[in-house]
Amino acid sequence: MERVESVDTAVVRPTTAAQRDERSARNQGRPTLEFGQRVPYDSYVHASTLHTLQRTLSGDPGEMSFLVVSQIMELYFKLIRHELIQARDHVRADQPWPALAPLRRAALHLEGLNAAWQTLRWMTPGDFNRFRDLLGEGSGFQSAMYRQVEFMLGLRNPALIRPFRGSAAFDELTAAIQEPSLWDEVIALLARSGHDIDPELVGRDKSQEHEPDPTVAEAWVHIYRNDGPDNHLRMLGEALTEVADRFGDWRYLHLKAVQRTMGAKTGTGGSNGVAWLQRSMGRTVFPELWTARTDM
Ligand code: HEM
Repeated sequence: MERVESVDTAVVRPTTAAQRDERSARNQGRPTLEFGQRVPYDSYVHASTLHTLQRTLSGDPGEMSFLVVSQIMELYFKLIRHELIQARDHVRADQPWPALAPLRRAALHLEGLNAAWQTLRWMTPGDFNRFRDLLGEGSGFQSAMYRQVEFMLGLRNPALIRPFRGSAAFDELTAAIQEPSLWDEVIALLARSGHDIDPELVGRDKSQEHEPDPTVAEAWVHIYRNDGPDNHLRMLGEALTEVADRFGDWRYLHLKAVQRTMGAKTGTGGSNGVAWLQRSMGRTVFPELWTARTDM
């Protein structure tokens, strides 16, 4: 995530361990209670801004949890994308080992993201119906950050950028879909590492969704044969599998939440709901890491 400079960040002044010890001694072990201006926590976290963003559309007491969970998920999408970009850049630089840490973080953030579904389990169709009409045509389908995560994972449908025409998100997604995905960079790394990857794959149009390829699956079968501690590509494969698996959990939990709260009704975003989501879920993340397992 880019570091954004603002007047507020200037208020967060770095301190040394010696200064902290000295202040704690002066405070007789209690936290500091006096600040000349805004508390440093808020200058950093911007909690006071964050807490102005929960603008519900109804007076229904349940709507707040729907809105806040959606916002929490948006923040997780951003964080997960951030980690995937770090991982992609390491892979691009022929460094599978340092890519493992951001992939581990991404998998853990996905667990946090998925846990957020638990707090919507109270919602029956009747509960949802009380405020659903007020959502108009609004749908999570229109989450630009979710599309960014998909693009980074290699799930790429250029048509899904269209809803954002006329906004900054459109330009950002248009730029993102032309960049190689994490999976594109992994395949390029496999080729550079001496695996016999179809050369057309490496030079292909990255804005189109990657089609599963037998030469990539074969490379993984070969890589997984060596389970020694120096086989960083194998570790990379497992870290990527973990991310794909946890992302699959999000899709499944979303589908269950949809079935639970609206059955097979049509979606607010204009689709036929569950049936459309099931088709969307048919697109596999890092497909050859799954198909290769049959031949391992
Ligand atoms: C239980 C409440 C929810 C219901 C009933 C629901 C329903 C739906 C439906 C029917 C769709 C298909 C598009 C449409 O016609 O609207 C969809 C897509 C989507 N929703 Fe939800 N949703 C719920 C909660 C959430 C939450 C909390 C998020 C998080 C931001 C979210 C994110 C998404 C995303 C990212 C898609 C697109 C999925 C894809 O492209 O495969 N949804 N949702």
